[in-house]
Amino acid sequence: MLVIQVCVGSSCFLRGSKNVIAEIENLIAHYQLDDIVTLKGIFCLECCSEGVTVMIGEKVFTKITSKNVVELFENEVFSALYGVK
Ligand code: FES
Repeated sequence: MLVIQVCVGSSCFLRGSKNVIAEIENLIAHYQLDDIVTLKGIFCLECCSEGVTVMIGEKVFTKITSKNVVELFENEVFSALYGVK
């Protein structure tokens, strides 16, 4: 199971983590990954000035928006799951 964690700390929340979460939920549904990808909220990852912060597995990504999360998801999630980009 691959875990995606989106920071919902106050700084990231103000920068749009709610919209990032909504987009990731859409992507998980679109690619029918519900059985192998879990989405969770997480509190401050200490990258506040660079939020929204997202963890995919053990990797941390910053400056994530509801727009650039699509490319991040398609690159990193498929890479983590299947070893391909
Ligand atoms: S609030 Fe998200 S990294 Fe600090």
